[in-house]
Amino acid sequence: MAREVIIVQDADALALRAADIFEQVVTDAIKQRGRAVVALSGGSTPERLYNILATRNLDWPNLWCFLGDERMVPAEDPASNYGMIAGTLVSPSNGASGQIHPVNTLLPTGDEAAKDYEKRLADFFGNDALRFDLILLGLGDDGHTASLFPGAPSLDVEDRWVVASPPGILPPPVERVTFTYPVLNAARNILFLVAGEKKAPAVHSILETNVTCQARPAACVQPTDGRLIWLLDKGAASQLNCE
Ligand code: 6PG
Repeated sequence: MAREVIIVQDADALALRAADIFEQVVTDAIKQRGRAVVALSGGSTPERLYNILATRNLDWPNLWCFLGDERMVPAEDPASNYGMIAGTLVSPSNGASGQIHPVNTLLPTGDEAAKDYEKRLADFFGNDALRFDLILLGLGDDGHTASLFPGAPSLDVEDRWVVASPPGILPPPVERVTFTYPVLNAARNILFLVAGEKKAPAVHSILETNVTCQARPAACVQPTDGRLIWLLDKGAASQLNCE
């Protein structure tokens, strides 16, 4: 697993660089395998990226997007990752809407939603290995990623692709559905997007110490046979010693 750390000036530069990486990975995947399969991240950091991608000329008929995690709220809820994605990445003219597959958060429980999403992934990948061409991830101040929170049972799951996750300490305090490490670490490309000084302590502990998965779950996102890119702005990188 090759790890790359890329540091850019600010959140706008981060979004532009991420858009270029996204477009390159998707173009290569379609050229090599006829399609590109991407997992999108939630939270606020990727909004700039999605607004840029909405204007790029992506080959949407051959690009399929899933979500690496979701909050168990309706799409109209401001906390919904799909709602944020639908309001940024999708434009009336870019053909994205039919290609983004949300978690069914209208099911009664996170466990049912996780099992439903897992089955839909299995049906989509069929006999192919469940291997995303690109998984976008954010980082919480507490070192969580997707909805893999510090000390959560989901960190120990090896035999599921998607599980329910109780709320972490960071808002919003709602039940989540999240990809597990086996899915994340099977990806061909993982791209962490991290901006802001608030994230600097977690970035330092993950990239420059032997911090445990339990303490900083993002530390154990290490693709078995894939590229790992940490794309940081100067604020998020401000406590790194060796970059
Ligand atoms: C979520 C996200 C989560 C997010 C981080 C960073 O559903 O909350 O998937 O993992 O990426 O919490 O969020 P910000 O980009 O808002 O700082």
